Amino acid sequence: MKELNDRIPIIAFLSGRGGVGKTLLSVNLARLLSKSRKSILLIDLDFYNRGATALLTGTVNRDAITGYALFKHAVTRKKASGDLASKLKGRKLVQAAEFLFLLPSTVTGEIVDWMEYRCESQQIAQFLSQLVRAVAEEYGIKCIVIDCRAGPDPLSIAVAGVSTHTIIVSEPDRITWDGTLNLHRYILNQYPREAWVEFLINKIPEKYELDKIRAEYEEILGRFLKSLRILGYIPFEYDIFESFGEIKFVIDELARTSMSRNIASLAIELLSEIYPSLIPEEARSIEAGTLRGASRGPRSTGLRWSRIVMMAGIIYTVVGCSLLLYGNWGLRVLLAEPIRLVGAVVAGTGIIVLLVGRIAGWFRR
Ligand SMILES: Nc1ncnc2c1ncn2[C@@H]1O[C@H](COP(=O)(O)OP(=O)(O)OP(=O)(O)O)[C@@H](O)[C@H]1O
Ligand SMILES: [Mg+2]
Repeated sequence: MKELNDRIPIIAFLSGRGGVGKTLLSVNLARLLSKSRKSILLIDLDFYNRGATALLTGTVNRDAITGYALFKHAVTRKKASGDLASKLKGRKLVQAAEFLFLLPSTVTGEIVDWMEYRCESQQIAQFLSQLVRAVAEEYGIKCIVIDCRAGPDPLSIAVAGVSTHTIIVSEPDRITWDGTLNLHRYILNQYPREAWVEFLINKIPEKYELDKIRAEYEEILGRFLKSLRILGYIPFEYDIFESFGEIKFVIDELARTSMSRNIASLAIELLSEIYPSLIPEEARSIEAGTLRGASRGPRSTGLRWSRIVMMAGIIYTVVGCSLLLYGNWGLRVLLAEPIRLVGAVVAGTGIIVLLVGRIAGWFRR
């Protein structure tokens, strides 16, 4: 981590490739920290694919302050310094939950001009440092979490220059890793001394054993990077995948998933030494898995059970029907020949078991 001095912690999620979980992680980490009753600001810096903005707001209208409006304002003025603070004066941020504020990326439906490619990287870096200073002062923000755009775009790279924690989220496959290392190279190129990059490996498929992945990737990373730090390994979970966009905060509604436990560990790991008051009590119980709520494994246990019940139903029905097919149908025939009676009972039970499995599947989200 970079020195905090008088600054507040700024935790940014970046990635080389899209869809690795930056939005999910940033929204939920911000939500967890806001339970400490300190004001947390989530900044959506993905102007093109408005992840956190889309998840947490209905529509963003023209009079809302957005990251993109502030960015345009800062980079189109010749002398931007100090100016963002006056732009924010007296204006309200979007409130996503108690103590959780959001700086949305853009107004709903707004077409974004690719402005960052037309300005100097220094100008972008200056905009970001002014932005974090201005929002912290104007709204009494105690911690900032940033949801970045995927890929080595100038704005995401510049984030590494202001954040106290720059976390590159990756998946454990070769293609994503290639993008991860590429982004890391871009960052080091721009900030050879200041940037402190950490890695988080997400969406690890069930077929991989976590320990094996850990050993392999530490070896791979070790070959490429010195002083590497991997913050965590998070499995792919069907419950998380299925709930995306449907529930705002996984940390609230799926607190016993591995994702929530990992987010709690991340909060504790990043902040317990330097800013312990930002860690809510709940983080420890989520991390320890002692919270009440549905217990879910990598694959949903409910769904797994309903599948097992249905499979049993199919087997019973097939066995029962085969027994029945030995003779004619009809109650008298059934009663006269015990084998057919057994067949009828088995087939009937099978159908009931199948229906139960189906209904259990329906009632699960
Ligand atoms: N551990 C996980 N298990 C299962 N699904 C996951 C996990 N992490 C993320 N996902 C899913 O991956 C998808 C992409 O997540 P998300 O939008 O947070 O990624 P992103 O990096 O912000 O993407 P983008 O680059 O497009 O902004 C979502 O459907 C999300 O539910
Ligand atoms: Mg996103």
